[in-house]
Amino acid sequence: MLSSNAGYAAEADALAVQYEETTFEAVHGRVLGLLPAAPARVLDVGAGTGRDAAALVRRGYAVVAVEPTAELRAHGRRIHAGVGIDWVDDSLPGLAAVPDAGPGFDAVLATAVWMHLDAGERVAAMERVAGLLRPAGLLFLTLRHGPVPAGRRMFDVGAEETVELASGHGLVPVHRSERADGHGRGGVSWSHVVLRRG
Ligand SMILES: C[S@@+](CC[C@H](N)C(=O)[O-])C[C@H]1O[C@@H](n2cnc3c(N)ncnc32)[C@H](O)[C@@H]1O
Repeated sequence: MLSSNAGYAAEADALAVQYEETTFEAVHGRVLGLLPAAPARVLDVGAGTGRDAAALVRRGYAVVAVEPTAELRAHGRRIHAGVGIDWVDDSLPGLAAVPDAGPGFDAVLATAVWMHLDAGERVAAMERVAGLLRPAGLLFLTLRHGPVPAGRRMFDVGAEETVELASGHGLVPVHRSERADGHGRGGVSWSHVVLRRG
């Protein structure tokens, strides 16, 4: 069985270029207004090369970037050297290296990550992430739809079922939208879902 990050290590060099070709603002523009005011603590799960983590640090946030693919973490450390991202080798759903105790996070981002988890992992991941959020903390999710690239593991995960899953963990939706793919890939589209912890 493929792991949730299958295919990323082998393609890391090309993906690093692709991820950094776009900007945090282009990817998250429609939900930027929902970000908590800086300074605040943000967890970026499945951070890739740290494009978003770096932009958030520059905006005044303290950012923990979780990334299980060593090759992508290495690119991130190189590309964003000196920015001040706190890199962690870890993965959903457990996030064992992210401490339970402590202040929690004002926002958690999982950008283009959630659909790599199978149904059981998504249940466990939602519980874990909800538990890491402070009251009124926000979870920003993007879900990719469309053809699955060769060698990857991806599931067809809808916004509606994600909102439903989150509601069982005290998270309420504050934003939902759909958009076309920023790279113009045929058949690929995206859902944005933002949820707030009550
Ligand atoms: C499409 S990339 C998105 C990277 C970055 N968030 C971005 O928007 O550029 C998906 C990322 O999720 C990571 N990933 C895969 N399975 C994961 C898991 N179980 N927990 C955390 N990250 C995971 C991959 O290693 C990869 O970096």
